[in-house]
Amino acid sequence: MVSVVIGTQWGDEGKGKVVDLLSKNANFVVRFHGGNNAGHTVIVDGKKYPFHLIPSGILHPKAIGVIANGVILDPEVLVSEIEMLKEAGMKLKGKLFISERCHLILPYHKALDLAYENARGKKKLGTTGRGIGPTLADKVSYNGIRIYELLDWKLFVEKFTFQTKIKNRILKTFAVKPINAKKELEKLSAFRKILLPFVADTYLFLNEALETSKNILMEGAHGVMLDTDFSPYPFSTGSNVITGAVNTGAGIPLQKISEVIGVVKAYTSRVGGGPIPTEIFDKTADAIREKGKEFGTTTGRPRRIGWLDLEAVKFACEVSGVTEIAITKIDILSGLEKIKVCIGYKLNGKSVSYSSCGYQELAKLKPVYKKLSGWKKEIAGITKFSELPKNCQSYIRFMEKFLGVKISIISTGPERKEYIKI
Ligand code: IMP
Repeated sequence: MVSVVIGTQWGDEGKGKVVDLLSKNANFVVRFHGGNNAGHTVIVDGKKYPFHLIPSGILHPKAIGVIANGVILDPEVLVSEIEMLKEAGMKLKGKLFISERCHLILPYHKALDLAYENARGKKKLGTTGRGIGPTLADKVSYNGIRIYELLDWKLFVEKFTFQTKIKNRILKTFAVKPINAKKELEKLSAFRKILLPFVADTYLFLNEALETSKNILMEGAHGVMLDTDFSPYPFSTGSNVITGAVNTGAGIPLQKISEVIGVVKAYTSRVGGGPIPTEIFDKTADAIREKGKEFGTTTGRPRRIGWLDLEAVKFACEVSGVTEIAITKIDILSGLEKIKVCIGYKLNGKSVSYSSCGYQELAKLKPVYKKLSGWKKEIAGITKFSELPKNCQSYIRFMEKFLGVKISIISTGPERKEYIKI
């Protein structure tokens, strides 16, 4: 059984919580794309575990965490997450595996990411500054360095020194301080010793798991609206986020997938630049941001807020073959008198679809809203659908009908036990 969790919006949908719930029955929990630009937080018994690279489902005793080939890795971040889990008492031997095919995010990638952003001035994209774009650019231009090279230190030093020389020339044109290869190699050598025991052929490993009918949970990162092909590029992340990335990023054939769970936050949020058709700037936005703690887990930036955009979410569900929906953070909307939901777009008076719009159209169009009545009662922690206020039930049913996909999980709070299964 292969289950896939996909974010259907701009990331930060609360996938960590959903993955954590579903990992209960998983033998393997797998990250297959992106890097430490993602942030998944899981809260267990009041203790917060922020993850950026290690699959958050690893917190379940039975689940083995796998970082498959599609993930790009910052060795320093990975080591700090390994240390966090060790400090929490977790024995990681046989519990965490990392593909030797993963490309490495190296110090010059982070420097380049920031240099490009600064050069864009007022037209900044708002990247997370984690070196994602430059690392993926190196990957496809045959300049990348993988864990594979890290296995052979001499080879790694040779490649790293060559790449640092080239990158320092580029950094010089941006008037940015060059990378000190010797110093960085010392740090990387220490990280290498911690990481190497976890390196494995994760492809073989996962295919054996398929043959022996193990439960595999694919932990998607980011959100479909950031997919490098299906977003309003360049307001994107560098990787593919849609379900297809399961195949390219972990070697799992798509026909082996049994279910795709699309995570939908009950409203919209986004960090970074680019158009958000349903963005709001008023007191309601501030209230949602504060109550929903909408500040980036990766960068701490305040997130931009908008009403739920069902036109965009419908597209995300279609392109990713979503079979079930998990709604998150619906409790944050309690207390609002009216709740708006976007059910279509109009551009120059004509109906247009999300997929037909580039960033210029998305910035100009007018959302078509359906106004629904809100509910007063706080619903945090409710575990039965029948106990939700009637208007909240109607909001959920409206969403389900519009999207044409069954809603099976409703998260009503950040803690593991705060959810409704229907
Ligand atoms: P990058 O992925 O760091 O290059 O950033 C590109 C864009 O994607 C920026 O707008 C980021 O804020 C956004 N982004 C990337 N990953 C995530 C995520 O996991 N959640 C929210 N936004 C993200």
